[in-house]
Order: sequence, then structure tokens, then C-alpha cells
Amino acid sequence: MLKIAVCVSGGGTNLGAIFDAIDAGKIKNGEIVSVISNNPGAYALERAKAHGVEAKCISPKDFGNREDFNVALLDGLKETGADLVVLAGFLVNVPAEIIREFKGRIINIHPSLIPSFCGKGYYGLKVHEGVLERGVKVTGATVHFVDEGIDTGKIIAQKAVDVLEGDTPKVLQQRVMEQAEWIILPETIAKICNGEIELG
Ligand code: GRF
Repeated sequence: MLKIAVCVSGGGTNLGAIFDAIDAGKIKNGEIVSVISNNPGAYALERAKAHGVEAKCISPKDFGNREDFNVALLDGLKETGADLVVLAGFLVNVPAEIIREFKGRIINIHPSLIPSFCGKGYYGLKVHEGVLERGVKVTGATVHFVDEGIDTGKIIAQKAVDVLEGDTPKVLQQRVMEQAEWIILPETIAKICNGEIELG
């Protein structure tokens, strides 16, 4: 059984999609052993508790400096015994010590077709604002391995979504989540759990 730790910062709809896929038997041989958030108010933590899964908040605000937070986050992840770390709407730049400790075993969902609309400053609604500003007709989501850069790791899966006339950033974000993120993230985790995609 692959142990999965999920890092979140917000509503946790991607986490919810993973729970749903496990409950529906679409993800076999994988279990979420812990959910960690940098944000104490993240509804994603409530989702974890509702599924009887450990929900931990490790917030930078609780530490005197960034280094102490980074160490606490690393220790928090190591304590889970996770084989796979999933960043699902996690708005913290993962420190190098965690990339090293979990090399090749961290994946992220990004709400655009990388290499478009990604990197520094492109997260959450800002991604969709950029898409609408540029006027592209197709966007989507990407699952990728996490390396030392921002959204620069090896691409694993992508799914395209149409941009429609009159879309607002919020409307587009919802469509990208429904038609792409909530599909390719669980699918990718299922393939990692059944060995179709190699870790490490
Ligand atoms: C989603 O657009 C996700 O791609 C981005 O943050 C938004 C909320 O994610 N990273 P979630 O609902 O917390 O999973």
C-alpha cells in the first residue's frame, strides 16, 4: 500500500477528488496517511478530518524564521512515512531540503498547460487572469514532478480545457478544476500506485 501525504493551502477540492477516487476504487494500493497545510483555516484540513485522516497545520507564522519552518515541514513530512508527497493547491515554495529528502517522489498539480502561465507569480486565480489577458483559446492543467524550480519538474500528465467567450477568471478556474485537475491528479496517483509510473 503506497503511503501518500497531501500538502494543501486552501479549499482542498483536489484533495477531495483524491479521496473520491480512493473511495470509488479508482486508486488502488494507495492511502492518504496525512494532510498537511501551511494555513490553519484551510478547509482542506476539515476534509481530511471528515475522512479520519491526520490533519496537521505547520504554519510559517508559528516559527521565528523561515529556516525553522522549513525544518518543521520536513520533519512533519518525514513523520508521515509517506512514499509519495502530493502538492494539491499548496502555495508554499518547497524548500530544497524537502526536494532532496523526497527526490523523485513529489508531484504537483498546476492549473495551466506548462510551460505556459507558470513559474513565479502564477498561482491560483492569477494563472487564469493571465490566460484571459493573453487571449489564448485553450488552457488546462498539468501534473508534474517537483524539482528545485517553480513548476519546472518533468511533466507527467496534461489535460486541455477550452476557454469560452465571456469567461471570468473564477468561471475558468472552476472549469479547469472540474474538467482537468480533478481528473488527471487522481489518474496520475492511480498510475503511481499501480506501478505504471515510476517514482524516484
Ligand atoms: C486550484 O486551481 C489549484 O490548481 C490551485 O489552487 C486552486 C485550489 O485548489 N493550485 P484546491 O481546491 O485547494 O485543491
